[in-house]
Amino acid sequence: MLILGLNMFHADASAAIIQDGKILFAIAEERLNRHKHYGGFPALAIQACLDAACAKMSDVDHVAVGQDTDANLTKKVQYALKNPAKILNFMKLRQRKQEMRDVRVLIGRALEVDAASLKFQEHHLEHHIAHIASAYYCSPWEKAAGFSYDGSGDFVSTMMARCEGNEIDVLERVYLPHSLGSFYTMLCEFIGYSKYGDEGKVMGLAPYGKPVYLEQIGPLVRPVGAGFELDLDYFKPLGSNAGMQVMEDGTVKLARHFSRRMEELFGTPRVAHTEITQRDMDIAFAMQNRFEEICFHLLNQLHVRVPCEDLAMAGGCALNSVANGKVFDRTPFHRTYIQPAAGDEGLAIGAALHTYHAVLGQGNRQELKHSYLGSEFSEAQIESALKAAGLKYRRYEREPLLDAVAGQVAEGNIIGWFQGRMEWGPRALGNRSIVAHPGLPNMKDVLNARIKHREWFRPFAPSILVEHQHEYFERDHPSPFMLHVYKIRPEKRQELCAVNHVDNTGRLQTVAREENPLYYDLIRAFQRRTGIPVILNTSFNENEPIVCNPEEAIDCFSRTRMDVLAIGPFVALKSENG
Ligand SMILES: [Fe+2]
Repeated sequence: MLILGLNMFHADASAAIIQDGKILFAIAEERLNRHKHYGGFPALAIQACLDAACAKMSDVDHVAVGQDTDANLTKKVQYALKNPAKILNFMKLRQRKQEMRDVRVLIGRALEVDAASLKFQEHHLEHHIAHIASAYYCSPWEKAAGFSYDGSGDFVSTMMARCEGNEIDVLERVYLPHSLGSFYTMLCEFIGYSKYGDEGKVMGLAPYGKPVYLEQIGPLVRPVGAGFELDLDYFKPLGSNAGMQVMEDGTVKLARHFSRRMEELFGTPRVAHTEITQRDMDIAFAMQNRFEEICFHLLNQLHVRVPCEDLAMAGGCALNSVANGKVFDRTPFHRTYIQPAAGDEGLAIGAALHTYHAVLGQGNRQELKHSYLGSEFSEAQIESALKAAGLKYRRYEREPLLDAVAGQVAEGNIIGWFQGRMEWGPRALGNRSIVAHPGLPNMKDVLNARIKHREWFRPFAPSILVEHQHEYFERDHPSPFMLHVYKIRPEKRQELCAVNHVDNTGRLQTVAREENPLYYDLIRAFQRRTGIPVILNTSFNENEPIVCNPEEAIDCFSRTRMDVLAIGPFVALKSENG
């Protein structure tokens, strides 16, 4: 049985295909059309799913969409009636969503097939149930607390659920306009980070701040019962502007969220690309601190309702790896499962798995232990791309390849590492990565100057052999998808200086051999040379979506000052390809 899951006309549009409960392939549209956070229809992703499954659209039995415009309709209507000025805006939005709802027609048009020949049954699943499904059904557990939080989805910002067997039983919802994601986004906008997806950058800025604005920021969002409420005086009213908007070309645009009250409290908002002042860092600090307080309030409330040790979590806010790393200290939960695509692209697998397990009542749950669900390319395809680009290269067998690349990393060179299937989710986890030495003091600046051009305050991340995690980090809960930040042990901070953030933390990826043997063995080869079981890992890209195919990798290598490209079994050196 083939089920296609979709996230469409929403940020990070994506598609996933599952066969008898097993995820065969999953990909965000941005990787294929090269349009970051693309929010249109995932036509290329659907075709890639079908190609990977060797199927035609007419073979697909079910299509599941992680969005349901009819969900929470009463709440939407109640809100609109209380705020008549916004009714027109709501009606326009609803009409547009209804127009985009006929999946059969949309797919038929995108794939140029006769919509009447498509036999699939269509399912629409509420946004946050799809988020929770994406975490729970991929987790190893038969029972867990389910939690989802983000900016908004189907008029809800937060959901709590009891997950057991095949069922996801929703216990609580926090409705708009109250949203912890909006709280975070609004403050990011105020300090000049107003692009969709900038929140992760500001999370890296927060530790540079001091706790001077905790009292001022506290009242903006306060716990109420099992949920929370925003003080709406600080926010532009929902519906008075378009909020998050997907433009005709699929670009996701944010409208200003903060009201004049913010300016009365903090002065002039920072203009993007101007100097970051201590005030901006202090606001970021207080924002992250308050975000965590509300998050842990919610999780503690969830634990009262679902008293167990296991937490399955998703939603854009679940990408806050700093908060994720503190769950074990601040709540009774002992284990987390956070799916690699915790943000909205993950809705595609959530919707598909929910259809299989909850709607169709099928068992056969399969834990998702790795994120390598995307595109892959044969040796012949890679070699042909190298030849087409006119690069000089050598071919290596497995062990000499690992030895050569580990040697280059140990010498302080920067390597583009392109291997196997592309990662699912926003993190490069050793298949579309740039790797470097984690213990060279200037490595962060060199990487930024030569390739990444990121803000000075953003840290780079370590990949560590899972067996050595406890020697280097103060927590030993694994972090296979780079979604937890932990303190680095004092005696190891110098050794990992290029990945040690200003607050002595690292957003680590724990690497187990069974999940990615080649990447594991690369880090082992580096360890043999240097004694360090850690490698610096950042995504293989330069201000663009992460590279997907060999041509994009070669192009990134050629236009940046990367020293080495290790692509499949081939190695190209910049020194020979100047
Ligand atoms: Fe979401």
